[in-house]
Amino acid sequence: MSTFFLIFLVMILLDTSISSKNVQISEATEWNSTRRQLEKESCKIGNPIDDCWRCDSEWETNRKVLADCAIGFGRNAVGGQDGDIYVVKDSENDDPANPIPGTLRYGVIQEEPLWIIFDHDMVITLKEELMMNSYKTIDGRGYNIQIADGPCITIQNVSNIIIHNIYIRDCVPGGNTMVRDSPKHVGMRGYSDGDGISIFGSRDVWIDHCTLANCRDGLIDAVVGSTSITISNNYMLHHNEVMLMGHSDDFLDDKNMQVTIAFNFFGEGLTQRMPRCRHGYFHIVNNIYTGWEMYAIGGSANPTINSQGNIFIASDNNSTKEETIPGDEEWKNWNWRSDGDVMLNGAFFTPSGETGPQSYIKASSMVARPASFLTNTSPSAGALYCQRGIPC
Ligand SMILES: *[C@@H]1O[C@H](CO)[C@@H](O)[C@H](O)[C@H]1NC(C)=O
Ligand SMILES: *[C@@H]1O[C@H](CO)[C@@H](O)[C@H](O)[C@H]1NC(C)=O
Ligand SMILES: *[C@@H]1O[C@H](CO)[C@@H](O)[C@H](O)[C@H]1NC(C)=O
Ligand SMILES: *[C@@H]1O[C@H](CO)[C@@H](O)[C@H](O)[C@H]1NC(C)=O
Repeated sequence: MSTFFLIFLVMILLDTSISSKNVQISEATEWNSTRRQLEKESCKIGNPIDDCWRCDSEWETNRKVLADCAIGFGRNAVGGQDGDIYVVKDSENDDPANPIPGTLRYGVIQEEPLWIIFDHDMVITLKEELMMNSYKTIDGRGYNIQIADGPCITIQNVSNIIIHNIYIRDCVPGGNTMVRDSPKHVGMRGYSDGDGISIFGSRDVWIDHCTLANCRDGLIDAVVGSTSITISNNYMLHHNEVMLMGHSDDFLDDKNMQVTIAFNFFGEGLTQRMPRCRHGYFHIVNNIYTGWEMYAIGGSANPTINSQGNIFIASDNNSTKEETIPGDEEWKNWNWRSDGDVMLNGAFFTPSGETGPQSYIKASSMVARPASFLTNTSPSAGALYCQRGIPC
């Protein structure tokens, strides 16, 4: 019964989401308002992040509470909790070398902590990568905020970043020009890859309730010694190489990387790398995967992957039933376990390495819910439509 319910939800979700790249992304996850209404009555549903803030009808005045709601390896990311509110009013006039007050870029490069919000719906098309400074929150709640059709977000050599409730889509490469990354420093940037969010040499990063689609390189890549990251409640769709964790087998600083990937919805049109892991420790918990075209989870260089309480729904293509890289034998030496995952439509997984929980301590960051939690509640991943004065 719950399987049918889930497939039903998935069908509705596919129906309401974007179908091609340049269509405006709608409120993809709010597909059943009756259900949402019922949820508000009994509000808390068992997702520890959402239960921490979504039931509060005063979420707007209590925005900074969000920073206390993180779970997993990125839970210490405080973002701009200790700083002022900065309001983005200007969606145009992006000047990468000399950012203009009122733009998103002016806010994110500042030295002091800032909690960045918006004052109307906007599509921001950046001229160059958005170079973030430490202790910033980008909080899109209350409006439809899209970073689209230009270079997107770069989190490089910084810490304590929260990105919440925005759409990131159709990101393209930029670079070979001057870009400011703090009030005191403007530097020459090489060519960028066209990632949605590029995390490079950074720590304490939390990306929650974003909708990411159709970028030139990765949707979210974390490389070069980045760690203490949580990627949660996101909705990802229409993309080839979804998430790269660790850029090179030779880069040993990534040995201590710890990343939590929880409560995400991997939707239609995704091909591979959800994620692709190198070295490091990956806790992949309570996500829903639908119909990957090559594989869902893969990697190299002996990562430890602790996969718990996820749902994997294979596509109808008989060649893509295996959730891991088909025919690739390398993973036989890794620690890779599947604990309480549900495999549907013929999906399968081949575990490797240690099976005992003690081998997965460094890849354990939160208590997994049983997979049935995902089938019994309506998933509400991706950017949300939050209205003032009522629970979101
Ligand atoms: C929406 O959810 C409610 C409550 O579960 C259910 O009764 C109703 O049939 C659903 N409506 C649609 C259109 O799926
Ligand atoms: C980040 O650190 C690396 C290595 O120290 C350095 O090459 C790079 O220029 C730094 N990037 C920025 C934006 O500071
Ligand atoms: C997929 O495999 C099933 C079971 O082996 C078989 O019945 C079906 O015809 C196959 N489908 C295709 C398209 O090959
Ligand atoms: C099935 O998947 C394989 C491997 O990715 C691919 O080569 C093939 O084209 C797919 N078949 C269809 C009908 O999509």
